[in-house]
Amino acid sequence: MSEQFDAVDIIRTKRDRGTLSPAQIDWTIDAYTRGAIADEQMAALNMAILLNGMDRTEISRWTAAMIASGERMDFSVLGKPTSDKHSTGGVGDKITLPLAPLVAVFGVAVPQLSGRGLGHTGGTLDKLESIPGWRAQLSNDEMMAQLADVGAVICAAGAGLAPADKKLYALRDVTGTVEAIPLIASSIMSKKIAEGTGSLVLDVKVGSGAFMKDEAQARELAETMVALGTDAGVKTVALLTNMSTPLGLTAGNAIEVEESVEVLAGGGPQDVVELTVRLAEEMLTAAGVRDADPAQALRDGRAMDVWNRMIEAQGGDPRAALPVARESETVYAPADGVLVGLDALAVGVAAWRLGAGRARKEDTVQAGAGIRLHAKPGAMVRAGEPLMTLLTDTPEKFDRAREALETAVVIAPDGARPAQQLIIDRIA
Ligand code: URA
Repeated sequence: MSEQFDAVDIIRTKRDRGTLSPAQIDWTIDAYTRGAIADEQMAALNMAILLNGMDRTEISRWTAAMIASGERMDFSVLGKPTSDKHSTGGVGDKITLPLAPLVAVFGVAVPQLSGRGLGHTGGTLDKLESIPGWRAQLSNDEMMAQLADVGAVICAAGAGLAPADKKLYALRDVTGTVEAIPLIASSIMSKKIAEGTGSLVLDVKVGSGAFMKDEAQARELAETMVALGTDAGVKTVALLTNMSTPLGLTAGNAIEVEESVEVLAGGGPQDVVELTVRLAEEMLTAAGVRDADPAQALRDGRAMDVWNRMIEAQGGDPRAALPVARESETVYAPADGVLVGLDALAVGVAAWRLGAGRARKEDTVQAGAGIRLHAKPGAMVRAGEPLMTLLTDTPEKFDRAREALETAVVIAPDGARPAQQLIIDRIA
């Protein structure tokens, strides 16, 4: 079959800072998905995009072409508003777990398609799989039934959603082209728009533990994604949030579920509660619900009721004991003073090395592995006081985890620096 375009012409156009036409973009995504553009050609095009960018019209078309590569879900039969949240990923980011049932309390359906962790950021499915019996894989019919009945579902995205992105993302991962803002934005938004949510709240993380290390880049990514969602008719809002230190007091799998359950029981660390409640308010407003009080629904047990039903609907036992790591070691404060820094990236890498994360997609994770923090930035600490507990089933991993933590802790002898604000900005 003769092809409509030549891949080399398209690469040259982007290399020379030109603009791709809608027809060229549609062909590129389709031809790559069916194997008519070779990996090395797509890699060259990705690099040209990383270096020279794409304009708003190109990004929008690129996203639409990726959506068109697969199925598009439709929740209109549910007869209730839908809302979803996407986080660009961070350390200790377990917010999806309390958030999905919390929003469902107010009659908004939450179809939360999530992923597994790769590298130092954890994956929501890995965390939930530490609950005995819980399964991530649901058919579209099962998902729809659970949304109608319970109102919230957290499950793996089926292979049918944006298949072009799966192939493209794997290629970007091994060719140094993940970091291109047009490619990140189109990758995330193609999946979210194909998923069929009516509204979307983006949690774009900024800081050492995030994809985007500086605020200007994070802002550009957030603005690009909000524009893509809005153009596609999805009410989209983004929060820029701080990821220079881990969220909450746990980074791992089972220990993050445990902390999420504390939040659902009306307790839990203040930062996790603050972000959960704020994201719930944004999702509810975007879905058209007024006068809801999500903080109250955490305190009075309504969110916990939905959580229990959501876990049970997917075969899990919400009351079962969670796996516990066989071995632990403590990291002590080296000096007296104020803890002014506890680096998110270092804690994420250490938790990953302890077995909480995976280096390759095929690896398994340890349910009990991870790090418990005993102090957060702003706290006064004394030399010799426990700062963190490292958890693993495989004690030979302790040394490499400790190496990752060598420069993670900063203690200032006098005067506290003001703690960085958690929610930096809102972009709509
Ligand atoms: N997450 C995605 O889904 N895609 C990207 O490109 C980056 C993060």
